[in-house]
Amino acid sequence: MKRIQIAPSILSANFSKMGEEVISLEKCGADVVHCDVMDGVFVNNITFGIKMVEDLRKITKLPLDCHLMIVHPEKYVERFAKAGADIITVHYEACQDNLKEVLSLIKSTGVKCGAVINPDTPVEKIADVIPMCDMVLIMSVFPGFGGQKFIPEALDKLRQVKAIVEKSGKDIDIEIDGGVTEENVEEIKAAGANVIVAGSTVFKASDRAACIAKLKA
Ligand code: DX5
Ligand code: ZN
Repeated sequence: MKRIQIAPSILSANFSKMGEEVISLEKCGADVVHCDVMDGVFVNNITFGIKMVEDLRKITKLPLDCHLMIVHPEKYVERFAKAGADIITVHYEACQDNLKEVLSLIKSTGVKCGAVINPDTPVEKIADVIPMCDMVLIMSVFPGFGGQKFIPEALDKLRQVKAIVEKSGKDIDIEIDGGVTEENVEEIKAAGANVIVAGSTVFKASDRAACIAKLKA
């Protein structure tokens, strides 16, 4: 059984005090900081980029998990790595023709790499690259916004990815992103996810530390 890691998404943080928010996450027991990078092209929203990662790197020791929801991620991989990303995940839908190359490029910068699929992309599309990933990210909402409802079909995809990971014999994390709550986290973990992204659930909680502890337990 892999260690469960809670990765709050700073998409739901107050952007006007991001430093304090991330320090609070660290104090409240978060394992990873999930950074949602959106370009307004791949998804219908715009967030932040390299500079945010660079500045957060200076104030936290937590791993920075950079989820790139951008077109042509290969153009920016090296700069995110240099800014201090610990892991960079890229969407199959953004690099259908060069996913292997982009993952290799990420690895070559010394940063961990991961492939992501949207709710309407089957696991088969990334099956061949899973063994070269440090993490596989299954989207359980359509990317772009926090606070959406968990799409239950993601559970079956987690089981499929888990089977592929086990067969590979490699140490690969399985991450879930979107609509995770204190109510559904148990079945998500049972289906195979060990890195749990939670945005609105953590940031709306009246007691952040208790919420993170509950998600982890
Ligand atoms: C959606 C992002 C998610 C989002 C999750 O595009 O990738 O990381 O912040 O937010 P919640 O946990 O509120 O669904
Ligand atoms: Zn995300």
